Amino acid sequence: MKTIIIFGSPGAGKGTQAKLLAKKYNFIHLSSGDLLREEVSSGTILGKKIKKYQDEGILVPNELLTELIEVNVKNNLNSSGLIFDGYPRSIEQANILNNILSKNNLELTTALTLNIEEEEALKRLLLRGKTSGRSDDNEKVIKKRFQVYYKETKPILNYYQEKNKLINISGKNSVETVQKEIITKLNLL
Ligand code: AP5
Ligand code: MG
Repeated sequence: MKTIIIFGSPGAGKGTQAKLLAKKYNFIHLSSGDLLREEVSSGTILGKKIKKYQDEGILVPNELLTELIEVNVKNNLNSSGLIFDGYPRSIEQANILNNILSKNNLELTTALTLNIEEEEALKRLLLRGKTSGRSDDNEKVIKKRFQVYYKETKPILNYYQEKNKLINISGKNSVETVQKEIITKLNLL
């Protein structure tokens, strides 16, 4: 079973590309953001706690998230692949994911990162904000999400690079062009 992480700043196109890949290769798309938002909309106590962090654009603490990831990995062990979108997002989460994978006899196949300038990603998110209903798609919170990305998430790219597991993709082109680049580079594996 293949396991792929898709990295990128807010608005880089992680969700868009992960969905397309999942469809093409019959992989399961595991988006931490979507899983958290589902928990919020189901109105549970856990969901209420999560909402505060998402509304501010800061990372949800691991104690509210790890189990959600672990359960979804375990439930999909018979699939042809897992694609992680938005997870891991910190060194600590990279270690947690390593543990979850090894406990389930899995190994990371590869990680992709979608590169895009902040200005372009901001434009996309402001546009999406008109219709998405996402409480974090406004300029103030988007700026915060970028800060968190630079501080917490971007540094872990080195960790995957050092293990020769990181593929760089240009995220600024059209959805179709980005998808083609990903598929070409994934087929080399
Ligand atoms: P999350 O939901 O992961 O949000 P994000 O990382 O900020 O990224 P987005 O989902 O906004 O962007 P994307 O890269 O998926 O782009 P998309 O394809 O949608 O996280 C939200 C919050 O949840 C966090 O702030 C945190 O609170 C919490 N959270 C999540 N994971 C966590 C974790 N691991 N630990 C702790 N907390 C966590 O595209 C964006 C827009 O651009 C769309 O409108 C799309 O149609 C458009 N678009 C996409 N590609 C293109 C293209 N090539 N050209 C033009 N437009 C495009
Ligand atoms: Mg997303």
